[in-house]
Formats: sequence, C-alpha cells, structure tokens
Amino acid sequence: MDNKALYRMAEQALVNSYAPYSDFRVGAALLTESGDVYTGVNVENSSFGATICAERTAFVKAVADGHRSFKAIAIASSGGQAWPCGICRQFMFEFGDSLTVITGEDENHLDVRDIKELLPEGFRL
Ligand code: THU
Repeated sequence: MDNKALYRMAEQALVNSYAPYSDFRVGAALLTESGDVYTGVNVENSSFGATICAERTAFVKAVADGHRSFKAIAIASSGGQAWPCGICRQFMFEFGDSLTVITGEDENHLDVRDIKELLPEGFRL
C-alpha cells in the first residue's frame, strides 16, 4: 500500500465524519504492520471537549481488534491540509516511534513525516 493509496482511503472516509459544529471533516487511514487498513473520522460532541479526532478513532478501532504495530497513517480533511493535533501525536507515539505520517492538500501534494519529527521527545512512562 503506497502513500497515495492510503491517502485516498482517508479521503473516502471523510463521508462518515460527524462534524456538525466545526463543519471541518477529517478522515484517517491507518496501515497496520500486518497490512490491514483501519479508517477513522472525527466525531464531534455538543460538549466540545468530548470530541475525538479522526486519527485517534482509527487507532482505537485497530487497537480494539488486537493490533499494536503500525506502519503509516494518512490524514485528509474537507478544509485543506490537516496536521495531527498534539494529543493525536502523543497517542500515535504510544505505539512506536517509527510511524510514517502522511498529510496534504491532495494525493499529488503529500507531506510525509516520521512521528519522531512531529513529536520530538514524546512522553513515555
Ligand atoms: N481534527 C481531527 O480530527 N484531526 C486533526 O488532526 C485535527 C482536528 C478535528 C477535531 C474537530 O472535530 C475538527 O477537526 C476541528 O477541530
């Protein structure tokens, strides 16, 4: 699965985003070490702090199915390029420091980073 294909899956997930408050739809596609892909969307809440981002939704789905090792995550949004928020960076870092993070305006303008670049000195117990 290449970066473009994973990004396309994130774009396709956008349709199920639940974002009635911000109208900012986010989709994520997470590639596991075993080659499975889990998508996620942002799910907002009238109590705004209860909102969950697309990236964490994808991780929670995959972890709940038993996955612990991940290769890459792609992120697409309805509002242009979306970089993962700080909470999501720490959430991703929990599962290893070699995750590839793919984001961009569209599949032909992708930025690719390592989670270590996005979260230097991330927290570990
Ligand atoms: N959001 C994500 O889902 N992922 C990000 O990386 C940044 C922000 C969501 C949260 C909220 O539903 C909306 O985008 C606006 O902040």
